[in-house]
Amino acid sequence: MQINDKSGTKEYIANAQRYETMTYKRTGKSGVLLPAISLGLWHNFGFVDNIQNGREVLKCAFDLGITHYDLANNYGPPYGSAEENFGTILKKDFKNYRDELFIASKAGYDMWPGPYGNLGSRKYLISSLDQSLKRMGLDYVDIFYHHRPDPDTPLEETMGALADIVRQGKALYVGISNYQPKETQEAAKILKRLNVPFILHQARYSMFDRWVEDGLLNTLDENGAGCIAFSPLAQGMLTDKYLKGIPKDSRAAKDLTYLDVDTVTNNLDKIQRLNTLAIERGQKLSQMAIAWILRQPQVASVLVGASSANQLKENVKALDNLSFSEDELKLIDKIVS
Ligand SMILES: NC(=O)c1ccc[n+]([C@@H]2O[C@H](COP(=O)([O-])OP(=O)(O)OC[C@H]3O[C@@H](n4cnc5c(N)ncnc54)[C@H](OP(=O)(O)O)[C@@H]3O)[C@@H](O)[C@H]2O)c1
Repeated sequence: MQINDKSGTKEYIANAQRYETMTYKRTGKSGVLLPAISLGLWHNFGFVDNIQNGREVLKCAFDLGITHYDLANNYGPPYGSAEENFGTILKKDFKNYRDELFIASKAGYDMWPGPYGNLGSRKYLISSLDQSLKRMGLDYVDIFYHHRPDPDTPLEETMGALADIVRQGKALYVGISNYQPKETQEAAKILKRLNVPFILHQARYSMFDRWVEDGLLNTLDENGAGCIAFSPLAQGMLTDKYLKGIPKDSRAAKDLTYLDVDTVTNNLDKIQRLNTLAIERGQKLSQMAIAWILRQPQVASVLVGASSANQLKENVKALDNLSFSEDELKLIDKIVS
């Protein structure tokens, strides 16, 4: 997709102060520091979206010190289009900054028809990353994930493919996503034997979904890997956007299967009570939701989505108040239990 640049040939120059306010956290026992808040391109960056807006969000992110951008082969819609748009924006605005960026892609979900475009075979992972690199115009990604476990492919094969991807220089580090603690332990063991830098597990984690607390975070600790928490705002529910109804342009109002109006309505009472607590703390609910995740030492980064630059600016202010009293934590447990 082309960028219609009203500013003509004017080059994007990043904010010179971008590293002064962001916090960077070590990922497990690796050498990698990630911004406490990272940006995901699952929504808002496909061909169905306004690329100019996506471009503003990305520039805003980098200006705020957000150096980590998370993609996957199937982000869009249509599949692949978020990577293609990201590649266009990288070429236009970020060509001088590649070494300051930490870029992720993944494969594991349905991507192309037939038996080789899904799940966890070596055939799928290696060809998918080749396609992703082409779409983004990159020689390598900083991290490549297996996006979800595949119960039918031997883990040795999937992890072996990740190892070869690193050896081929197409990814610097590897990760897994949506793996349960036991599967994570097994994957970590294989990757260690293959001498491959397994540094991150990408897991859904928010006040509304706390499964990682049930063993995963400890497993990651034991294996020297970190956690990057996705959908930390429960896709927008943990913000103040649904307090007065369903805004027309919100994710819940869109014709997507990921967040529906009923889910929002069913959680409204909890959202209202959490919002009251956030106000008492002098924060927005979105900021409290992010700060609450960052209380876990294993969490290297909170991976947010944003449909506007203003949302991102608001979310980053979570870093201004990260501490919780015991009473506040107990109250949150009570509200969300
Ligand atoms: N590994 C996996 O399986 C997996 C799965 C899902 C996601 N992810 C990754 O995680 C990233 C984040 O996921 P997510 O988009 O679900 O995260 P999220 O941060 O929970 O939700 C983001 C959405 O919340 C709304 N929002 C954000 N900040 C807001 C604010 N300050 N005020 C009001 N509304 C706000 C926006 O929705 P509106 O459009 O309504 O404005 C935004 O698109 C994805 O982009 C992807 O990279 C990974």
